[in-house]
Amino acid sequence: MKSLASVVLLCLGCRLTSSFVLEPPHMWSKLILTHHWPSTFCSMEHCHSKFDYWTLHGLWPDKGQECNSSLHFNETLIQDLLPEMQKWWPDLKIPESSRFWKYEWQKHGTCAAKAESLNSQHKYFGKALELYHKLDLDGVMKKCNIVPSETYYTEGKMQILGQIEICFNSDFQLDDCEHSETDTVNLNVKGAGFSVCDHATPVYYPPLKVYYPPLKGKLSV
Ligand SMILES: *[C@@H]1O[C@H](CO)[C@@H](O)[C@H](O)[C@H]1NC(C)=O
Ligand SMILES: *[C@@H]1O[C@H](CO)[C@@H](O)[C@H](O)[C@H]1NC(C)=O
Repeated sequence: MKSLASVVLLCLGCRLTSSFVLEPPHMWSKLILTHHWPSTFCSMEHCHSKFDYWTLHGLWPDKGQECNSSLHFNETLIQDLLPEMQKWWPDLKIPESSRFWKYEWQKHGTCAAKAESLNSQHKYFGKALELYHKLDLDGVMKKCNIVPSETYYTEGKMQILGQIEICFNSDFQLDDCEHSETDTVNLNVKGAGFSVCDHATPVYYPPLKVYYPPLKGKLSV
C-alpha cells in the first residue's frame, strides 16, 4: 500500500482555504490527479449522480492556471477518448456535456501542456485516463475495505470525504503530495469548499444514496 502514502484526503467542512498568491507562470514539477466522490459532490452541488465509484476530477500541474488562451478546447481532437471520458470523467452537474473537460483543459491542461509529454489535448486527456486506470483508486480502497458507510457520527464534529488527490512527478511516477498554505490554489474546488481533512476529526464516507444528517449544524467550518 505504498500508494496510500501520497494520498491527500479532502473533506468538506474542515477549514476554509485561504486565498493564494499568484505566481509568475513557470514549469510545473508535479501533477495532482484528483478524484471526486460523486455522492459528496452532488450533495453540495445539488446534482443527481448515478456514479458509485471515484470519478476523475482533473489532472492539475502544481504551477499555473489558464496558461495559454490560444489553446482552444476541441472535442474532435479527443474523439476516440470520449466513451472513456464519459464513463470515468463525467460532468456530474451536466451529464453528457463536454463543458467540464473544456474547463479543465483551459484551467489546467494548458499549463500541463508546457511539458512535451502533455503538449496536446490528446496527450493530456489520454494521460489522465491512463494514470486513473493505473492507480485504480476505487479498487484499492475496496481492497483495503474502505467502503462507504450508511451510518455516520452523531457525536461531535464530523467531516465528509469528497475528494482524493494523488501526486505524480513529471515522469508520471507516484510522488508525495506536499501541501503548504501557498498550495491552496489546488485545493480550492470551485464552489465546493473542500479543504484538507483534519486528522483529528472523524471522516464520513457516504454511500451513493446519502443518509446525511442535516448538513447545517453537523459540519464545523
Ligand atoms: C500558446 O500556444 C501556442 C500554440 O501552440 C504557441 O504557439 C504559443 O507559444 C503558446 N504560448 C505560450 C505563452 O506558451
Ligand atoms: C478541431 O480539430 C479538427 C481536427 O484537427 C479541425 O478540423 C477543426 O477545424 C478544429 N475545430 C476548431 C473549432 O478549431
